[in-house]
Amino acid sequence: MKLELKDLTKRYGELVALDGFTLTFEPGIYGILGANGAGKSTLMNLITDNIKRDGGSITFDGRDILEMGDEFRAVLGYMPQQQGIYDRMTAESFVSYIARLKGLRGKEMREQVDGVLKLTNLESVRHKAVGQFSGGMKQRALLAQALLGDPKVLILDEPTAGLDPRERVRIRGFISELAKDRIVLLATHIVTDIESIADKVILMKKGRLIDVDTPANLIAAIPESWKPVAYNLSLEDVYMYFLGD
Ligand SMILES: Nc1ncnc2c1ncn2[C@@H]1O[C@H](COP(=O)(O)OP(=O)(O)OP(=O)(O)O)[C@@H](O)[C@H]1O
Ligand SMILES: [Mg+2]
Repeated sequence: MKLELKDLTKRYGELVALDGFTLTFEPGIYGILGANGAGKSTLMNLITDNIKRDGGSITFDGRDILEMGDEFRAVLGYMPQQQGIYDRMTAESFVSYIARLKGLRGKEMREQVDGVLKLTNLESVRHKAVGQFSGGMKQRALLAQALLGDPKVLILDEPTAGLDPRERVRIRGFISELAKDRIVLLATHIVTDIESIADKVILMKKGRLIDVDTPANLIAAIPESWKPVAYNLSLEDVYMYFLGD
């Protein structure tokens, strides 16, 4: 399984939000690090076909995702960055609504909805309005809909934003379990969230791909001269070294 991005470009007027992004994804967890406005969500919105690209290509196992259309959407799960859009729906009706958008119907739909609500531990609150959920429960509801249909490509835009450490560690563990035989892209500002679970880390700055490598290799790439003394470097230092001003 391969998701290939070639020279992917997105502009908003004068601003180049994504600038010739080229990378091939294979099964595993890819953590995306970059400052506010680096282009993380833009990249994800292009892969999920929520916005139109200005240049480049995206292929899944050699076929253009735009030509695949519904066939690609069937293997895709997307957890958007934004919360609050579906606050008036119950957890169950929200997840069912997305299931219908994904083309699931009848018994299969009910089984899928039950399955993802169970997986994300929302079964007992399935009839409660999402607007009354805590931040962590809302994130889990967003994650639940992303898991419908057992997607091969899972795009998670800041899945742990606003969560307390306990919820964060739970969701992190959960994501790492999901990763087998899947391409998982995870954007975050919480560097520790990907340090332990990402196979590869993507560094982005001003719409450009700066580097992509394992956390250990990126840490090793920081020059000796930059290293503060008597201190073990972490992925946060990678962020400071490669993405700082
Ligand atoms: N609809 C839009 N219209 C104009 N500019 C936009 C639009 N969406 C994004 N941008 C700009 O594109 C750039 C990249 O934005 P993007 O949302 O991809 O960043 P990000 O890395 O996800 O940031 P954050 O960490 O804050 O979520 C930013 O400069 C942003 O202002
Ligand atoms: Mg974003």
